[in-house]
Amino acid sequence: MITLHEEITVARSAKDCFRYVADFDRVYEWDATARDARKLSEGPIGLGTRFEVTCAVGPTTISIEYEIVDYQPWHSIELRGECKLFTVTDTIVFSDRDEKTHISYTAVFDYRWGLGRLEKYFLKGMQQMGRESLAGLQRALEDRALPPATLASSLSADAWVAPGVAMFTRWGYRRGRAFWTPTSRFLDQQHIVITGANSGLGLATALELARAGAELTLVIRNPENEGSLRSLLQQVTEEDKVTIEIADLSLMGEVHLLTERLLARGKKIDVLINNAGALFNSYAETDEGFERSFALLLLSPFLLTRNLHPLLAGHQQSARVINVVSGGMYTEKLVCKRLIMKPDRYNGPRAYARAKRGLTVMTELWAAQWAQDNIVVNAMHPGWADTPGVASALPTFKKITQRVLRNPAEGADTIIWLARAREADQVTGKLFLDREPRTPYLLKKTKESPAERSQLSVFLKHQLDTLEFATGAKEDAA
Ligand SMILES: NC(=O)c1ccc[n+]([C@@H]2O[C@H](COP(=O)([O-])OP(=O)(O)OC[C@H]3O[C@@H](n4cnc5c(N)ncnc54)[C@H](OP(=O)(O)O)[C@@H]3O)[C@@H](O)[C@H]2O)c1
Repeated sequence: MITLHEEITVARSAKDCFRYVADFDRVYEWDATARDARKLSEGPIGLGTRFEVTCAVGPTTISIEYEIVDYQPWHSIELRGECKLFTVTDTIVFSDRDEKTHISYTAVFDYRWGLGRLEKYFLKGMQQMGRESLAGLQRALEDRALPPATLASSLSADAWVAPGVAMFTRWGYRRGRAFWTPTSRFLDQQHIVITGANSGLGLATALELARAGAELTLVIRNPENEGSLRSLLQQVTEEDKVTIEIADLSLMGEVHLLTERLLARGKKIDVLINNAGALFNSYAETDEGFERSFALLLLSPFLLTRNLHPLLAGHQQSARVINVVSGGMYTEKLVCKRLIMKPDRYNGPRAYARAKRGLTVMTELWAAQWAQDNIVVNAMHPGWADTPGVASALPTFKKITQRVLRNPAEGADTIIWLARAREADQVTGKLFLDREPRTPYLLKKTKESPAERSQLSVFLKHQLDTLEFATGAKEDAA
């Protein structure tokens, strides 16, 4: 039997420290040997929650199955782990000390197959691992990550285009993860609005931000999805801090009414995530007469974000706007008059790419315009992720790329990180992939002219001016 014991003190509340450690599927962020982890059981974390943790052992890995066997919120937690080689009991005790938290961590390993006789040979290595793990936990809880920056290898991958595009796959996510720092900030006082929250990336984002304690306003189109969305959220958090808003975001009248409701509620917004979207292979117009890709993917987030500006602006802590765009936009250049495609020349992926390019440029414009209001605005693209949207709009693409697609949580990771990480508000007006600012132009020929750029918001406002609700509100336009 080997007993390891380490102690650290961190300037965080016991509640934060406890919650971060209890979230054992994030153990790979700080433990010296853990490479991956996942929650096996359903429901919020508590007594009986099970996890699988993959740990490095020399040149190979082993899988350890853990269960929480004692759970005393904010005070102590005990986990029992089992694998082929040993059983381990981790006891972690949290105590308040002068506005800091003292963490005492004890791990008792009991070896199988007579391996106990060899303990003396690996005792030193185990002790070293224990020290490194607790140092990792201390760093994670101190949460002092540097502002996001682009890796030199990403710059050269993007310069060669094809290697940059290869990073859209799950391998890109894996590669990125090797460089990430832990995210231990909780979102208890944060109000986050997410559009398209019932499916794919929006759902993965909502679940993760609910787990982090955020108060959520989730915008969905179909009221029939409300029940299933609420029960999925109940599986990750016991707290009920969710408001559901129903709106068809391809209709500006509905976007307008939604923003009126949110403004009347008056609750400040800390993070707005413009995620709702779809790729339409065939041409159709909305009841308001707009081509639907343009309406849903560009005009709608433009109106929503602009109208919600009063709830985002002027807070002590910066508000964040996160626009979900797409790697597809790398193929298109912003030309305002081409944003609305005509029926006879319609091409779904192109209309989609143009609208996402427009939203990327709008991100940069808002970032500059709203910096004085303490609003940071960034765009992200998720790479290629296996979601219901991809399955229905791009079935052949899905079939071909199935083995390299990210899962929804991997695709949503950068949205979650931009919303949650303390350091993510240190940059504004950037396009992110896998937590790194990346170039908005893979091809030089897709760089828009300064005239098109400065024309974009005028062009979008002009489209809105044709609508009834806009009359009288024109002078408020940002
Ligand atoms: N998955 C990828 O590989 C990928 C790549 C690049 C960019 N993206 C972008 O990521 C975002 C999320 O897409 P996803 O892949 O997660 O697709 P998804 O599973 O289809 O989710 C899209 C969400 O948008 C909602 N939505 C669509 N039209 C709407 C409307 N008119 N009004 C209100 N909500 C509407 C959908 O609601 P319903 O369920 O009611 O339809 C759904 O909640 C989109 O902006 C997409 O363009 C995804």
